[in-house]
Amino acid sequence: MTIPADEKPGVRITVPVALEGRAYDIQIGRHQLCEAAALIAAMAPGAKVAVVTDESVAALHAPALEACLQQEGIGFTRITVPPGEATKSYARFIGLCDALLAAKIERDDLVIALGGGVVGDLTGFAAAVLRRGVRFVQIPTTLLAQVDSSVGGKTGINSSHGKNLIGAFHQPSLVIADTALLDTLSEREFKAGYAEVVKYGLIDDPAFFDWCEVNWSRIIEGGPERDHAVAVACRAKAAIVARDEREEGDRALLNLGHTFAHALERLTNYDSTRLVHGEAVAIGLALAFRFSQRLGLCPGQDASRVSRHLDAVGLPTTLQQVPGGAGSAAEIVAAMGQDKKVRRGVLTFILARGIGRSFIAHGVAAEEVMAFVEAELSANGPAR
Ligand code: GLY
Repeated sequence: MTIPADEKPGVRITVPVALEGRAYDIQIGRHQLCEAAALIAAMAPGAKVAVVTDESVAALHAPALEACLQQEGIGFTRITVPPGEATKSYARFIGLCDALLAAKIERDDLVIALGGGVVGDLTGFAAAVLRRGVRFVQIPTTLLAQVDSSVGGKTGINSSHGKNLIGAFHQPSLVIADTALLDTLSEREFKAGYAEVVKYGLIDDPAFFDWCEVNWSRIIEGGPERDHAVAVACRAKAAIVARDEREEGDRALLNLGHTFAHALERLTNYDSTRLVHGEAVAIGLALAFRFSQRLGLCPGQDASRVSRHLDAVGLPTTLQQVPGGAGSAAEIVAAMGQDKKVRRGVLTFILARGIGRSFIAHGVAAEEVMAFVEAELSANGPAR
């Protein structure tokens, strides 16, 4: 797979999300903030804007965005929330809704989510319910948010019962994936986002997985490979969302690795010093392929290849690598029971017949999962 000729450095890539009545574009490229402001001015003439961001992102990127808004004559207010998963809470959600009302954001106005997945999910949910729904624009500042959470309209907050259990589908009106914003990410955060990039190859695009194996370090460095990877991921996600917006079918494929990942995040108390979402997804992807191998579905060489690639990138691939320990097999399986992928007590897993051959498996027996997790935790570690 080579980078298409029309993806030239400096040229913005547009990926449409074709949802009837709620269609929007994802704009991908470096240095897109002023283009974003121009698009917002055209989309919502005369609208006021609330820029919702977190304290870390505000220091890095809010002034540049606000200068562009000013240039377009757009009036704005900045609302800042603390960084970190704990911000996806009832208390912060109420605080944000009140702040948006205090800023007099009306039905015709617009909310911008400038930040990673936490800011995007919280802001999108507030936009979904504020005055029964206002438009919002996603300007994701992490790789993970650019290739996954900013696209597709899933918004929400966490409850003590689990992650993302309170929320709404509310599509953004525009997504701006400015890949230059990723230059300020730590290596750890960038690599964690990379797990969600490679996921698209593992779901149904083996040629993209091959390309990732060769090009992953150039994606991290920046340049056309980074923009291309974001574009491939966004095109894949846009296609799935267009045919199954509400996750009644195919969209569940995007949860490859996530049943394990959400359990691990829960068992590490969403403590980012131990595990961030993308690292949990990397372990989850490796486990999903080894579980598929154990069930006789997936060739061992494919499962090994997945772990080898994630290892090479520097991502964790085993339960043993969870800092402070992942918990017992019983705790891990119980934590999976909180996931939204559980319906009437039966687990739904995304399994694979090989790289790029993932499928939705309903009714996976809890005993099979338990036996697999016990084997993974055993002194011998995972069979690889
Ligand atoms: N992150 C999975 C989805 O958007 O469906």
